[in-house]
Amino acid sequence: MTTRRRFTLTQYLIEQRRRFPSASGDFNALLLDVALACKAIARTVAFGDLGSMLGQPAPEVTTSVNVQGEEQKKLDVISNEYFTQMTEWGGHLAGMASEEMDHPYQIPATMQRGKYMLVFDPLDGSSNIDVNVTVGSIFSVLRAPQDVIDSGRDVVEADFLQPGTQQLAAGYALYGPTTMLVLTVGNGVAGFTLDPNLGQFMLTHPNLQIPEDTHEFAINASNSRFWEAPVKRYVDECLAGKTGARGKDFNMRWIASMVAEAHRILMRGGIFMYPRDTKDAAKHGRLRLLYEANPVGMIIEQAGGRASTGREPVLTVKPTALHQRIGFVFGSKNEVERIERYHSEPGAYKDDSNPLFAERSLFRA
Ligand code: F6P
Repeated sequence: MTTRRRFTLTQYLIEQRRRFPSASGDFNALLLDVALACKAIARTVAFGDLGSMLGQPAPEVTTSVNVQGEEQKKLDVISNEYFTQMTEWGGHLAGMASEEMDHPYQIPATMQRGKYMLVFDPLDGSSNIDVNVTVGSIFSVLRAPQDVIDSGRDVVEADFLQPGTQQLAAGYALYGPTTMLVLTVGNGVAGFTLDPNLGQFMLTHPNLQIPEDTHEFAINASNSRFWEAPVKRYVDECLAGKTGARGKDFNMRWIASMVAEAHRILMRGGIFMYPRDTKDAAKHGRLRLLYEANPVGMIIEQAGGRASTGREPVLTVKPTALHQRIGFVFGSKNEVERIERYHSEPGAYKDDSNPLFAERSLFRA
């Protein structure tokens, strides 16, 4: 019997580094530290309610003090700690930022500082933990501003406010039926599956490409009354299927775990929408720009898809705050471009009643 030769994540990264003969190896070492954090989170997630076997609380337990007087932590807090603890020591990072931390995280003074910054959502879709549905981690690697590298000073919020086009790498880990790591270092997108026996991410999906067209869309339809007219128009046309303007039937999906939706779209195409809406005037969308939309956006674009605010490419948006929210639409290129087109011609659609199920003026004779 011949065994199939598979590359490990480490081998893939070495291969990628050969494009840059002067590279020091710091970048690869950082990504391997991130992968280690993801493996630790995968293991914790996989133990579920048996988490105490690892000396950790069951995932659904919120931060509190148990009967023994010990502190119990939520899984997203534990995941955040895996990220910080497994990446701070290597000397590659100038600082970090995370969904779980209000302010930037400083590399402790006892440790060496480096030239990269790591931004992450340690456990995306964590409301799905209690129901044993796929969750994931999302991360983005940025270069620290030169004065941070030169001086080794503490990082501040402004250092992280770089548009997504500046990302050096982006990825996500998926804790589903199998654990996967999907990564871009700016040269296409590769997917790795965790071999639980070897404890290694193996290259299983070398060059992921998103089909340009699709008949599958994902949106939280309970927000439909808050949508803007171009989004209502798009969804109504999908729902009208063969009988409407699109002339074909669509299927709808909603996992409420963006990282899982992104993965489905990478595997077989589709479009995901969490658009800007009028639900809360103080928020310009639901998803976070720096550690959700930008990294997923880079992956999607590197795989030939499109990532947008609905109006413009999301990667070109200049961030204004660490935890900024944004409307986010991504997936099969032709569908995302269609939504952008609908936003540029909003007057073309007259919305006059229940946005989802009523007859549209657009379709009336
Ligand atoms: O972090 C945001 C997130 O959990 C995404 O993973 C997911 O797409 C979204 O929120 C779900 O939102 P809602 O609860 O409105 O469906």
